[in-house]
Amino acid sequence: MTHAVYPVPRQWAENALVKADDYTALYRESVENPDSFWRREAQRLDWIRPFTTVKETSFHEQDFGIRWFADGTLNLSANCLDRHLAERGDTIAIIWEPDDPSEANRQISYRQLHEMVCRFANALKANGAGRGSRVTIYMPMVPEAAVAMLACARIGAIHSVVFGGFSPEALAGRIQDCDSSLVVTADEGLRGGRATPLKTNVDEALKHCSSVEKVIVYRRTGAEVPMVDGRDVDWDDAVRDASNHCPPEEMGAEDPLFILYTSGSTGKPKGVLHSTGGYGVWTSMTHQYVFDYRPGQVYWCAADIGWVTGHSYIVYGPLANGATQVMFEGVPNWPDHSRFWQIIDKYRVEIFYTAPTALRALMREGDEPVKATSRASLKLLGTVGEPINPEAWEWYHRVIGEGRCPIVDTWWQTETGGAMIAPMPGAVPLKPGSATLPMFGVRPVLLESDGTPIEGAGDGCLAITDSWPGQMRTVWGDHERFFQTYFTTFPGMYFTGDGCRRDQDGYYWITGRIDDVINVSGHRMGTAEIESALVAHENVAEAAVVGMPHEIKGQGIYAYVTVNVGVEPDEALRSQLIKWVRHEIGPIATPDAIQFAPALPKTRSGKIMRRILRKIAEGDVSTLGDTSTLADPAVVDRLIEGRQ
Ligand code: WT7
Repeated sequence: MTHAVYPVPRQWAENALVKADDYTALYRESVENPDSFWRREAQRLDWIRPFTTVKETSFHEQDFGIRWFADGTLNLSANCLDRHLAERGDTIAIIWEPDDPSEANRQISYRQLHEMVCRFANALKANGAGRGSRVTIYMPMVPEAAVAMLACARIGAIHSVVFGGFSPEALAGRIQDCDSSLVVTADEGLRGGRATPLKTNVDEALKHCSSVEKVIVYRRTGAEVPMVDGRDVDWDDAVRDASNHCPPEEMGAEDPLFILYTSGSTGKPKGVLHSTGGYGVWTSMTHQYVFDYRPGQVYWCAADIGWVTGHSYIVYGPLANGATQVMFEGVPNWPDHSRFWQIIDKYRVEIFYTAPTALRALMREGDEPVKATSRASLKLLGTVGEPINPEAWEWYHRVIGEGRCPIVDTWWQTETGGAMIAPMPGAVPLKPGSATLPMFGVRPVLLESDGTPIEGAGDGCLAITDSWPGQMRTVWGDHERFFQTYFTTFPGMYFTGDGCRRDQDGYYWITGRIDDVINVSGHRMGTAEIESALVAHENVAEAAVVGMPHEIKGQGIYAYVTVNVGVEPDEALRSQLIKWVRHEIGPIATPDAIQFAPALPKTRSGKIMRRILRKIAEGDVSTLGDTSTLADPAVVDRLIEGRQ
């Protein structure tokens, strides 16, 4: 199979931070001599006490451990703020664009951001937070969300950001898992002209959370919200008398920075824990090299702070690098389908980073909304979250970037902290749909499912053979689960859960998850989580959830549901169940299809054969494979007939 190749444009080849020869030489050094490579790269951060040890890592059971720069100390809030003050205190750090374009924007300099963070850090302390305590942040896309995160980092508290689209139930589970003592939220969030009742959701969640002592409420819309006496504090009141002086806490490189919950193939969401030093080095380095970022350029990552992309490429990476960035509260299609491109023109954005699902949705609206804007400032485009189909890639390149901007397709995961496979735009020719080549220090390997390594071109399971600084350190409260989940499928290696192809040029093509995780609009959903939400409904006996192809979302959610005896599986129940899942998890988990099934295909030992369910959901029933091991093969015909 041949693919289009987009060579590195001449100006990029000549002027990029990392040129083709640099990439090759530095990559080699990074894997052959990691100590020297990382000792040098880590100098991008200001350390309080310099580290002497660099890499102390093993993926093997007998001496399992991941430690980077372990005897060094630092503070990431100081790295993102204080150290920029002397040289670029008046440089804009965050340009905030509100949901409604007619509302005033905000421009916040590094000096102002520093002051906001110091004040809020003192407010956190006054409300009982400190080193090691957990603070849950449930906020809309306002600068105060970043302020809250950096304030935690400043005082050594561990933040756990929960995406504002999660339901009270999902929020409660995440608060309980890490026993947060404090929640930071807003009265309401605003997206696409619609308000989300964040504070009311928190109140609902806290009925089930005994650990929380204080709730700090930022006023975004000014809506009337109930405030609980002694527990709830107004953001403005909390910072009004707080000092703007707050010395950064001296943190060990391995001290936790944050927890971020993500879905796995089994059980409840895992609290992915990231470190301070390694994560700081990794996000700063990858942000600089992948986006070829130079101070003064306007950069915009259109992700939400509630996901890892927002943590690494809105907060820690760009701010550590002194970047000027746009932070957008709204959505791509409101008030109209030109919104992204209007914002690019408004702030002369040079580097733009978004998800394939947004591009596919906009592509469907045709080129007119794009052509109505200039986008002349754009130099580089990026994507993340899911495989990008070549059609969307070509459209992004030809229509959005007018053929002039390289596209960096960045493959990574919540667990990896930052980009793992991604082109450096001045070094690596592009192939639409491929995340191209590994980042410095990343050693990918493809394996057959029995563990046999695949050399050269081939297709297999993607694992990483050695540690990198940005790697997660544990699952909060369950180190054993961390080891079991990632290091036992292929002993001695980190298993990503993704399938991947490597072509004859050594380029990597992610083919998608090969576990029971589905990727909906670039967001990871555990099928098990949706199933347990469904079976929690009084009328449901059994449920099985699989992914199905979806034109815009990449994957949609397809649920097979068996109802209890005596229950009528009708349209009313179908819409009730859809509402129920939204209530249990949040709108992102809304099933796209629910098929009522009299029975599910099971083996004689009672195991649901998901392979068959996936095929039926995909509408590909010609190759169901071997169904002879089913307890009742006739079930399959009935499922095919009932396909939604
Ligand atoms: C999963 C991780 C990385 C931050 C956002 C998602 C898929 C991610 C790509 C890409 C193909 C991708 C993988 C991965 N994925 N980026 N560029 N090409 N697939 O983080 O929620 O932890 O999901 O997203 O399947 O395992 P996440």
